[in-house]
Amino acid sequence: MIKARIVGTGSTTPKRILTNKELEAIVDTSDEWIIRRTGIKERRISSNGQGEDTSEMATTASLKALEMARILPEAIDMIVMGTVTPDRQFPSAACFVQKALKASKAVAFDVSAGCSGFLYGLSIANNAIATGTCKNALVIGAERLSSVTNWEDRSTCVLLGDGAGAVVLTPSIGADGILSTHLQSDGNFWNLLYSYDERSKIPEILDTIEGKPFSLSMEGNKLFKKSVVCLADIAASALENNGLSCNDIKLLVPHQANLRIIKAVAERLKIPMERVYVNIEKYGNTSSATIPIALDEANREGLLKQGDYALLVTFGAGLTWGASVVKWSI
Ligand code: UT7
Repeated sequence: MIKARIVGTGSTTPKRILTNKELEAIVDTSDEWIIRRTGIKERRISSNGQGEDTSEMATTASLKALEMARILPEAIDMIVMGTVTPDRQFPSAACFVQKALKASKAVAFDVSAGCSGFLYGLSIANNAIATGTCKNALVIGAERLSSVTNWEDRSTCVLLGDGAGAVVLTPSIGADGILSTHLQSDGNFWNLLYSYDERSKIPEILDTIEGKPFSLSMEGNKLFKKSVVCLADIAASALENNGLSCNDIKLLVPHQANLRIIKAVAERLKIPMERVYVNIEKYGNTSSATIPIALDEANREGLLKQGDYALLVTFGAGLTWGASVVKWSI
């Protein structure tokens, strides 16, 4: 049975660091509150004209992943990009990436699945490779959340950041690769996290951002409780589906929305925090980009070796959530 394997990872984040201290000047918050309730110390914010638009960051991350994979852009058949902040409503941000990479053979499209966009994309590309529809695929998660943040809402603006990550997939006939992907959605809870029509006022210290004509609203506490249950449940079924136990998992790579959520999920799965990848303190919640950025950093730090099992878990607007078990192949 053919499946896809990951042969390259790449990521990028904007240069501009926005610290919790700086946020104290924008909304009624404190460094202490943000760290205690979320684990976030700083986040990266894209600047206009610096190659940090969603598709530009996606292109940078993709080039790094392609370089590691030693695959040329012309050999890519599919570009799938998870994003809720494409450069434009249409065409897709993936098409801008295709143009920038000169990946002329690729079919390119975006996936809108909230923070789960990358895992949804991974599942689509994995299935396309398994059925022989495509050979080499680029799966990206990229966001410019700063452009849809309500900078007057302290309950959300302290959480979000910008960045991009990507992986290159090729066919595997061996034991390694993407062993399974598990996706779920529940539209009944759409109103826990959604966009609404209102351009937010960009604070003076962030005047390098051009806001989009919509903002983001979130019922954080309800979402928190729901996400712990959904993440733990889908991760447990992914393990069971592959006949694995928590002890087999070398690294849990969770969506980075809140350190307390990550710890609660790890505890439910009985995976010690030493085997959980956390970088939320540096980037905050970058939606679709959190998992591919974390995966790239873990890979480059040598935390995953060939044959290790990684468990990816995600949760986001929709509601959407998902998990994937990967037998590492780089
Ligand atoms: O990525 C997609 C999925 N996203 C998530 O899963 C996010 C899930 N939610 C969360 O991470 C957390 O719910 C938050 C970090 C958003 C909020 O933490 P919380 O522990 O759920 O706090 P809360 O909303 O219950 O608010 C507690 C208090 C409130 O004050 P009162 O009513 O107790 O006086 C808030 O007004 O904290 C207040 N608060 C703040 N205080 C200082 C809310 N935001 C802030 C802030 N600084 N930034």
